[in-house]
Amino acid sequence: MTEKAELRFGDQTIELDIVEGTEGERAIDIQDLRAKTGLITLDPSYANTGSCESSITFINGEEGILRYRGYPIEEIAEKCSFLESSYLLIYGELPTREQLDEFRESVRYHTMLHEDFRLFYRAMPKDAHPMASASAACASLATFYPDSLDPRDPREVEIGVHRLIAKLPTLASYAFKHSIGQPFMYPDNRLSYVGNFLHMMFATPCEPFEVDPVVEKALDLLFILHADHEQNCSTSTVRLVGSSHVNLFASISAGINALWGPRHGGANQQVIEMLQAIAAEGITGRDFVERAKSNDDTSRLMGFGHRVYKNFDPRAKIIKKACFDVLSRLGVHSKLLEIAVELEELALKDDYFVERKLYPNVDFYSGVIYNAIGTPENMFTAMFAIGRLPGWIAQWQEMHDHKHKIGRPRQVYQGATQRAVTPIEQR
Ligand code: CMC
Repeated sequence: MTEKAELRFGDQTIELDIVEGTEGERAIDIQDLRAKTGLITLDPSYANTGSCESSITFINGEEGILRYRGYPIEEIAEKCSFLESSYLLIYGELPTREQLDEFRESVRYHTMLHEDFRLFYRAMPKDAHPMASASAACASLATFYPDSLDPRDPREVEIGVHRLIAKLPTLASYAFKHSIGQPFMYPDNRLSYVGNFLHMMFATPCEPFEVDPVVEKALDLLFILHADHEQNCSTSTVRLVGSSHVNLFASISAGINALWGPRHGGANQQVIEMLQAIAAEGITGRDFVERAKSNDDTSRLMGFGHRVYKNFDPRAKIIKKACFDVLSRLGVHSKLLEIAVELEELALKDDYFVERKLYPNVDFYSGVIYNAIGTPENMFTAMFAIGRLPGWIAQWQEMHDHKHKIGRPRQVYQGATQRAVTPIEQR
C-alpha cells in the first residue's frame, strides 16, 4: 500500500502519496495539491523540490556518492571512455564493442561544421567569451540542420544528438582559434573524440601536431566526471526549455548559458583566477580564507561548497588525484596547485567551512589541470559544457519519454493590489 502524508489546513485534512525512489529517497507527491486545497508550495531555489522522477544519475550528497545509471563514478572513471559513458547516459546501458564502434563512427561522421560557421565566428568580437559564442552557435545549429528539429521524431532526435556531440568540440575550438587569431582547424577524424578536440584547439596548419596521450587521457577523464549531475541548474534549464517542445539545439544552448554562471560551471574559471590572484598579489592562504568567510558574497572560496554534497564531492577526489598524476607526468611544477592544496587544508580545518559542510567541488582542481595542459582560462567552462553535453541530452530525452506538461512554476504574488492609472500629466 502506498504510504501517505497528511496535510492539515484550516478544517481540511488531505492525504498525499509518498513516492519512494529505488535508493530510498522519499517525496510527497503534491501534484493535486492546488486542485484539492487551493494552496501551492513555496520553495524559491528548489532545494526541497523534486522536479521529476529520473533513472539517469543518483547522488547521495551526505555520503558523497555519484552513480551514472547505477554504476559508481569511480568505476566508470577507471574503466570507461567518455564516449562510452555518453552512450551509457543516453541509451541507458553500457555499449557492447559493436554498439560503441557504431556510435563512435556516427559521431565522427558529424564533426565537421557548415563552412558558413567561419563567417559566424568572424562576426564575433575577438574577446568574445567562448560560452557566449558556443551557446549562440549551438542555437544556430537549428538553422543549419532543419531535418533534426522535431523532438517527437526519434530518428530526427538521434541525428540531432549525434550531431551535437560531434560538433560542440568543433564549435568550442573555433571560438578559441578566433580569439587568438589563428586559422580554424578542420576536424581530423582519424583521432579519438578528445584527441580531435585537442588537435582543433592546439594544432595549426603550419606544424605537425602530436596529441599527447597523457593530456588526452586527462581530458577524457575530466569529461567523464562532468558528464551528468542530475537536476542541477543547467540541466533543469535544459528540461524546462525543452518542455516547451522547442528543438534540442535550442534547449542545449539554454543549458550552456546556465552553466556559464560563476555559481555553476563558471566556477572553474573563477577558481584559477582566484589562485592566480593569490599568487600575483602574494596574499597568504590564511588571509584569503579569512576573506572568503566575510560573507559579503563577493569573495567566496571558489570551487568550494555544493547544494547537494554535504560531504566530499567524489568527483573532486578523483580530480585531485589526477591533477598530481598529470602534472608529474607532464613534468609541470605548478605554484597554483600548491596554493590550491594549502587553501583546501586550511578550509577543511576552519570552523566556518566545517559548520557549513563546505568541501572542494568538481571545479576546485579541474582548472589546475586545464591550466597545465595549456588551456586559456576563458575556455574552462566551455570544456565543462562539452563534458556535460551527454547528461543534458539524456535528461532532455528522458523528459520527452515521460508524460510531461510544459514546465511552469507558480508564484506567491507580493506586489501592489489593484490600483488605477493616473494620467501622465497628473503624476
Ligand atoms: N565560500 C565561502 N562561503 C560559502 C561558500 C564558499 N565557496 N559556499 C557557500 N558559502 C556559505 C554561504 O555564504 C552561506 O553562509 P551563511 O549560511 O552564513 O549565509 C552558506 O555557506 C550556504 O551557502 P549557500 O549559497 O546558501 O549554499 P547553496 O547550496 O545555495 O550554494 C554553491 C551552493 C555551490 C552555489 C555555493 O557553495 C558557492 O557559491 N560555491 C562557490 C561557487 C562554486 O564553486 N560553484 C561550483 C559548484 S559545483 C559545480 C557546478 O555545479 O557547476
